[in-house]
Amino acid sequence: MDPAPPPTSAPVVERTPTAPRDLGDTPFTIANRLADHPLFTDDRIKELLRRLPRERVEVRRVTVDPDPAGGWKRGPLDKDVDPVAAFEGLATRPTWMLLHDTWKHDAGYRDLLERYLADLRAAFPSLRGEISDLGCWMFLSSGRSVVHFHADPDQSFLNQVRGGKTVHVYPAKVLPEATVEELVYAYDQGVVTYDPSYEPQQFPPTHLSPGQSVFLPLYAPHRVVNDDTVCVSWNVGFNTPITRRRRDVHCVNLELRHLGVTPTPVGRRPWLDGLKRSSRFVFKAKNRLLPFLRPKIDVVKKYGA
Ligand SMILES: [Fe+2]
Repeated sequence: MDPAPPPTSAPVVERTPTAPRDLGDTPFTIANRLADHPLFTDDRIKELLRRLPRERVEVRRVTVDPDPAGGWKRGPLDKDVDPVAAFEGLATRPTWMLLHDTWKHDAGYRDLLERYLADLRAAFPSLRGEISDLGCWMFLSSGRSVVHFHADPDQSFLNQVRGGKTVHVYPAKVLPEATVEELVYAYDQGVVTYDPSYEPQQFPPTHLSPGQSVFLPLYAPHRVVNDDTVCVSWNVGFNTPITRRRRDVHCVNLELRHLGVTPTPVGRRPWLDGLKRSSRFVFKAKNRLLPFLRPKIDVVKKYGA
């Protein structure tokens, strides 16, 4: 049984004086109280690893030397290694581990996720509406390892628990519209690939130490370089009514593109975005009734990811 959570008077995450009043298109930092939380001790993480189905633990071999010429690509999967052994070997074998669905398989992390969201809601107005796609993902990674360039189909806070890392974030607008459409439709970050032309638009890099968290804006691509020691990070992702509306427009644009039409980019004509949002149900019905007309994206074949 997990030890009692911190008292309700002590939030697990909170604003800092430099944080903006609400979430937007720019990264910023806030503070977390997770570094000493009992859910992040070695023994408790191993208990979680034993509890998770093996296929929900993504283990990848990674490079420890940043190589821009390599395109910041995702490392190869290691499906055979035992997750607990991989975790114990992080100090000696360059590895990146991503633990999926932790809140579905372990009540301790589910409770922490709910507590974290409650604290975020108190801090940021746009989180006070209906939240969807809420989840938490734990990252366990070797010192000096590099996390590939990618974007996520949601917005999130990346919380540093142990070790340090530098997070490089780029504006979402660097990505082609068609890439964002595929990201939200396929829900697979493998569709996002690096282009050196994005570099001049990168936000100032954010260095995270335990107790610090960074906001990763919606669809904003990012990559990470660890400091010298093993890192434990915890990401909380979600969609809000605002981001769901934008996702609906991107999905309709993907359908239009599939029909040979070049759609108007999201945000250029608000009235047209509204029309597309309200027509998404038509495309959903079409895909349900006529599945052979559903746009298909073979991410591995198309992007080799
Ligand atoms: Fe990410």
